[in-house]
Parts: sequence; structure tokens; C-alpha cells
Amino acid sequence: MKQRIFSGVQPSGNLHIGNYLGAIRQWGELQDQYEAIFSVADLHAITAPQDPETLRQKTLEIAKIYLAAGIDPEKCTLFVQSHVKEHTELAWILGTLVRMAELERMTQYKDKSQKGGASESGAGLFTYPVLMAADILLYDTAVVPVGKDQMQHIELTRTLAKRFNDRFGETFVIPEGKLSKEGQVIMGLDDPSKKMSKSAASEYNYISLTDDADTIRKKIKKAVTDSGSEIVYSDDKPALKNLINIYTLLSGKTAQEVEEMYQGKGYGDFKEGLSEVVVGFLTPFQEKLAGISDEAVEEILRKGVEKARALASAKMTQVRERVGFLPAE
Ligand code: AMP
Ligand code: TRP
Repeated sequence: MKQRIFSGVQPSGNLHIGNYLGAIRQWGELQDQYEAIFSVADLHAITAPQDPETLRQKTLEIAKIYLAAGIDPEKCTLFVQSHVKEHTELAWILGTLVRMAELERMTQYKDKSQKGGASESGAGLFTYPVLMAADILLYDTAVVPVGKDQMQHIELTRTLAKRFNDRFGETFVIPEGKLSKEGQVIMGLDDPSKKMSKSAASEYNYISLTDDADTIRKKIKKAVTDSGSEIVYSDDKPALKNLINIYTLLSGKTAQEVEEMYQGKGYGDFKEGLSEVVVGFLTPFQEKLAGISDEAVEEILRKGVEKARALASAKMTQVRERVGFLPAE
């Protein structure tokens, strides 16, 4: 039997090439080896304020992006998180097992709550990793392919699964996180010390998967660079290193090959070359995306949710019994 993988992305902000290279690209590569379930994490998205109509549109858009990235609905299950009520139910139960100190340690919570002040931020932002643990554990997930920044949440998921199993008997599979081959975090174009982020203040931080060619060229042109003019891949040139990473990940060339191509040339030439690589990848991607209708993706999500509900509901019957809830009938 194939092992199961589960992953998801929140339908908030604009999905960027960091999301693609850090997470979604490898999902397509894993779908043959594993039994795959992919979710659009709309319950997670509302931990930051969302406009309802935009949220609906983004939810469909993310599902389309999965498909354009090569996720095959014949091989995988695709669904919207809020369509399966068991996620919130299991999150409540796991929320009684998690310790405050464990949640206070989460880097993402510290970062996000810092922006508006921890005492003002919603409790959902704090319990966010518990919902994520519920997503993963409901489906007996063995492997969770995510970017590096989510690994801490996977660790907590493992802790909660073990704690539940110790207390109530073997119920959950202990999942493992899986980084993409390169395991790289793509940094912001305007600030290479922080990861490229869809909630960044400036749109010059990221290249969105839906940016057109002119926008991409403009953003790459404006990307910050390091001192010096040579095209070299090194830790003391973090801005350039990040741009070369993007170049290599999208072109299949090695960093050394890129250095050689631009020997004796400057940032201008390199940035033009990089723009062509990014545009060359995103143009066909966007054509695919535009070819997927709302109706087609809605139909795929309807089929997906049936499968997800069946699995989640069986698991929750077991969990309720283990915890000691009286059966309704
Ligand atoms: P998020 O944007 O936080 O919803 O993340 C969705 C997925 O993309 C997660 O698996 C992240 O680890 C991954 N991801 C987000 N930002 C980056 C980045 N800058 N570089 C690499 N992976 C990323
Ligand atoms: N929290 C993840 C992120 O921001 C998205 C997510 C929600 C997720 N539920 C998940 C990822 C379950 C993996 C497994 O990227």
C-alpha cells in the first residue's frame, strides 16, 4: 500500500514563486509515489482578516494553481478544508492537549503576532498549528511535504499525535515533514534577509505566479543586489545568492553554470537573463491556469471532498470513542 501525503496552502495573498519552488512543485513530483491529499486551507486563511468575496475567489484560484502545477485529480484528492467539518472538531480536541508554552514557542506565531501586537491578535493565530495538526492527523498522513518554515508545526503535530496515542491508545500515525530536494527558502527580492512572503508590505518583495512579463521584468530590475559587480554564488552576497537560487531552480542549471555564463558580465545582464528564465516558466504556467474554468475546478473539488469526508469521518468516530464521548445513536 502506498503511504499517504497531505499538504495545503492558505488562500490568502498572492501565491509566489517561493510557494511554488518551496512546496507546490514537489507535490506534483510525489503524486505517483504516494497517495496524495491536497487541501486549500481556507480555515487557516481567516486567522488574518479576509474579504469574503476575495476569499472565495482565492480559494478557487489556489485549486487552479495546484492543477496548473501538474497535480492530477485522477491521482490525488483535492478539497477545500472548510468543507470537511472534522478538521475543526479534531482541532478542538487537540487544543485540549497542547500546552500554552508549546504554542508560544512557534516562530510563525511570534512573527505574525508581533506585527499587530500579541495581545491584539486573534486567538486563531495562536492555535493555528493545532488546526494544522488536525488536518494532518485526520488522514493517517505519513509524509507532509512543506517548505522549511512549516517544519516547526510538523514537529508539534508529531508531539500531539504521540501525546494522544499515549493517553488514549494508538490512534494517529506519526507524520514526517519532507522538504523539497533543494530545501531552499526563497528570500524577498527587496530584502534578502527575510523569506519571500505573500503578506509582504511591498509587491516588490515577491514574484506572484500571476504576474505578467512586464511586471516580472520590473520587479527583477528593482531587486536589491550586493556590493561588487561580479556574478558569484556566495554566502556573503545574500541578495545575489537568492537570485541565483531562483535561476537554478527554474532553469535546471547549477549555480556554477550560472556563474560561468555571466563571467565578465554584470548585474544588468544577469537580471535580464533571470527575467527571461522566470517569464519562460510563468508564461506557459499562466496559459494553463487560464485554461481551467471555475466549473471544472468546482467539479474536481466536489469529488475530492467526498473522499476526504469519508476518511475524516471514520477517523473521528474512532477519536470520539477513544476520548469517551457518548455516541449519538
Ligand atoms: P504560506 O505562504 O505560508 O501559506 O506557505 C505555503 C507553502 O509554501 C508552505 O509549504 C511554505 O513552507 C512554502 N513557502 C512559503 N514561503 C516560502 C518561501 N519564501 N520559500 C520557500 N517556500 C515557501
Ligand atoms: N500552514 C501551512 C502554511 O501556511 C498551510 C497548511 C495548512 C498545511 N494545513 C496544512 C500544510 C497541513 C501542510 C499540512 O503553509
